[in-house]
Amino acid sequence: MVDTATLVVDGKEITLEVSSPSEGQDVINVASLVNEGLFTFDPGFLSTASCESTLTYIDGDQGKLLHRGYSIEQLAEKSNYMELCYLLLRGELPAQSELANFIAAVEKETVVHEQLVDICSTFPPGSHPMGMLGTLVSAMSAFYHDGLDINDPDQRMQVAIRLLAQIPICAAIVFRHHMQKERVDLRPGLSYADQFYHLMFSESNDSEVDPILSKALDQIFLLHADHEQNASTSTVRLVGSTDANPYGCIAAGIAALWGPSHGGANEGVLKMIAEIGDESRIPQYIKKAKDRDDPFRIMGFGHRVYKNFDPRAACVRATCNDVLDRLGIKDDPILEIAKTLAKIAREDEYFIERRLYPNVDFYSGVILRALGIPQDYFTVIFAVGRTAGWIAQWHEMVSDGYKIGRPRQKYTGPRQRDYVAIDQRS
Ligand code: SDX
Repeated sequence: MVDTATLVVDGKEITLEVSSPSEGQDVINVASLVNEGLFTFDPGFLSTASCESTLTYIDGDQGKLLHRGYSIEQLAEKSNYMELCYLLLRGELPAQSELANFIAAVEKETVVHEQLVDICSTFPPGSHPMGMLGTLVSAMSAFYHDGLDINDPDQRMQVAIRLLAQIPICAAIVFRHHMQKERVDLRPGLSYADQFYHLMFSESNDSEVDPILSKALDQIFLLHADHEQNASTSTVRLVGSTDANPYGCIAAGIAALWGPSHGGANEGVLKMIAEIGDESRIPQYIKKAKDRDDPFRIMGFGHRVYKNFDPRAACVRATCNDVLDRLGIKDDPILEIAKTLAKIAREDEYFIERRLYPNVDFYSGVILRALGIPQDYFTVIFAVGRTAGWIAQWHEMVSDGYKIGRPRQKYTGPRQRDYVAIDQRS
C-alpha cells in the first residue's frame, strides 16, 4: 500500500510517501526533505529504516524472528546452519541436491592461504581473538582483490561461499594460536559444524567429534546467523556502499561486533557473573544496573528491538541444558547465578517498565564455557555464525543497487568566524 503523510513546517505543507512492508511498521520516505532544506534527526537510528531487505524480520513486541518467512524456532528445531546459509543467500529452502551442491561448493573453498597462518603466528600471547580474526579476514581482502568484480552476481556468490568456508578455518587458526596448540588438518567428509569442532578441539587428526557438542555449535551458528540491520550488519552495508572489497566489509563487521554493547556481550556476561561471584550479591548488582550514574549494565539483558523475550535466548537456553547434560555438569554455578539474576531482574519494576529481557548473549556464554572455549573467544563464535547474515545482506545490497551511505548531521559547533593571528590571541 502507498499512502502519504503531510508535514507542516513554517506553515508549508510537505507531502511524504508512506509505504507498507510485507511485515511490520509502515515507513515514511523522508529522502526528499533535503530539497526542502530539512534533515531528520535520529541518533542511533531508533526510528530509521536504512534499507529495504527480504532476509530477516524481527517483531520486537512479539519476540518474533523470521528468516525469509521461517521462524527461528522452526529453523532451530528442523534446519541447520548450512541450510540457513543457503536460505539467506538464495531466498528459498534448498532441494536435497541444491543443498548438497552448496555444501560441496563450500567444502571446495576450504583451502586458506598459508600466509594467514604466518600472519596469525605473529600475534603475541594474550592478543584478543577478535582482533586476530579481523586481521585475518582483512588480509583476505589483500589476497582476493585482483579481477574481483562485485557487480557480477556469480563472483558475489563465490565471495559468499569462500567466506563461509574460510572464516571458521581462520577462527580455528586463531583458536589454536590463542591456546598455543598445534593445528590439525581438515578432515574430508565432515559436516560444517563437525569440521569446525574438529579443527578447534581435536587433539589429533583422527579424534572423535562429539555429535551433541558439535550440534550445539551448529545451533549457535544458526541462532546468530542474521538479525536485520544490527550495528555490525549496518557497518558491513555502509562499508559495502563505497564499492569496497567485500572481505574488507566483513572485517569491518567483525570490528563492530566486538563491542561489548553488541556481540561482545557474551564475553561480558561471563565477566559480569564472575564479578558477582555469588547469588547473595545479585541484589547489589541489580541496584548498580538501575543507577543512572553507574555505567554498569546487566550484560546479556535488553535489546534495541526486542521488548519481549529474545526468541534466540530460549533456543540457546535449551541447547545449554543439552550441553551441560552431555558433559555431566550438574547445577553449574555460572548457570545458577545467571538463572537467578534473570529471575530477580524480570521481577523488578525497573526492568519490567523498560521491557528488558535476556537476549541471545545471556546464556550462550554458559554453553561456550562448558565447551572449554575461553571467554575472550566467545565473540569469535558469534562472528562465525553472523558471517552468513553479513555476506547475504551485502549480496542483497549490491544486487538491488545502492547509493553510497552518507548521513548528514545537526551541526552545533561555532558559527563562521575569522582566523586570529597567534600574537593576537588572548
Ligand atoms: C546484540 O541489534 C541487534 O540485533 C543486536 C543483536 C544481534 O543479533 O545482532 O541482537 C546482538 O548485540 C544483543 C545485545 C547485546 N548487548 C548487551 O547485552 C549489553 C547490555 N544491553 C544494553 O547495553 C542495551 O540494552 C542495548 C545496547 C542492548 C540496547 O540499548 P538501547 O536500545 O540503546 O536501549 P537504551 O540504552 O536506550 O536503554 C533504555 C533504558 C535505559 O534506561 P533509562 O535511560 O530509560 O533510565 O533501559 C536501560 C537504559 O539504561 N537499560 C539497561 C540495560 N539495557 C538498557 N539497564 C540495565 N541493564 C541493561 N542491560
